[in-house]
Amino acid sequence: MDVPRSKQFDDVYFSKQDGLAESRYVFLGGNDLPDAWNNKEHFTICESGFGTGLNFLAVLKLWLESDAGQRPASLHFISFEKYPLDKEFIENALLRWGELKEVLAKLLAIYPVDLSNGIYELSVMDGVRLTLIFGDINDEIPLLDTKVDCWFLDGFKPSSNPDMWSNLLFENMARLSNNGASFATFTAAGFVRRGLEAVGFNVRKIRGFGNKREMCVGLYKGDNKCV
Ligand SMILES: C[S@@+](CC[C@H](N)C(=O)[O-])C[C@H]1O[C@@H](n2cnc3c(N)ncnc32)[C@H](O)[C@@H]1O
Repeated sequence: MDVPRSKQFDDVYFSKQDGLAESRYVFLGGNDLPDAWNNKEHFTICESGFGTGLNFLAVLKLWLESDAGQRPASLHFISFEKYPLDKEFIENALLRWGELKEVLAKLLAIYPVDLSNGIYELSVMDGVRLTLIFGDINDEIPLLDTKVDCWFLDGFKPSSNPDMWSNLLFENMARLSNNGASFATFTAAGFVRRGLEAVGFNVRKIRGFGNKREMCVGLYKGDNKCV
């Protein structure tokens, strides 16, 4: 089955090999989930690039399968998206994973019909909130006022979408990070690593998913004095 592709960015929305396995390896595994959220009262994940919502659904499925006694009472997933996809596109892209059927139905039931720029506060289920921010992350993230425990850096590849991977984004990640906040990203591009290090993240290269040689993970060690 073909994977959805952006002509504009000459890149795919998720791996041709297995997008769900990639999402679990890069973003969930890279951020040490579910261990990272266990025994916390509240947990906030922030993502660049909602796309089809595959990462969100992988998180929601993990949440539903987690021990309710150990996981936080509430989960907030915030995601930015400059070019929102419509429900039909999302459904067609994600139907290939039977195991996501239940969580996909939950997403489609609340996903906005109007895709205009703006902030969409969506209640997914008891204890789980999804905030979709339609617009350019570099315009919108400076306006965000919350604390983040975990970052999913998932724009298209830096070589075809360099504007998204900006110092402004990294500075705002530092501003919003709880101490010890983690990040994971599929890329190991040098300017992304240096940008994250400059604002206080320690950055480690690890093996990438499938045939990708490297990706990056790390923790925020700074003092939130950026910006
Ligand atoms: C690789 S796709 C994301 C895949 C997604 N996580 C999924 O599960 O389908 C990257 C996404 O980032 C979005 N994007 C690219 N540049 C952006 C920007 N400057 N601000 C917000 N979103 C952006 C794209 O429109 C695209 O949907």
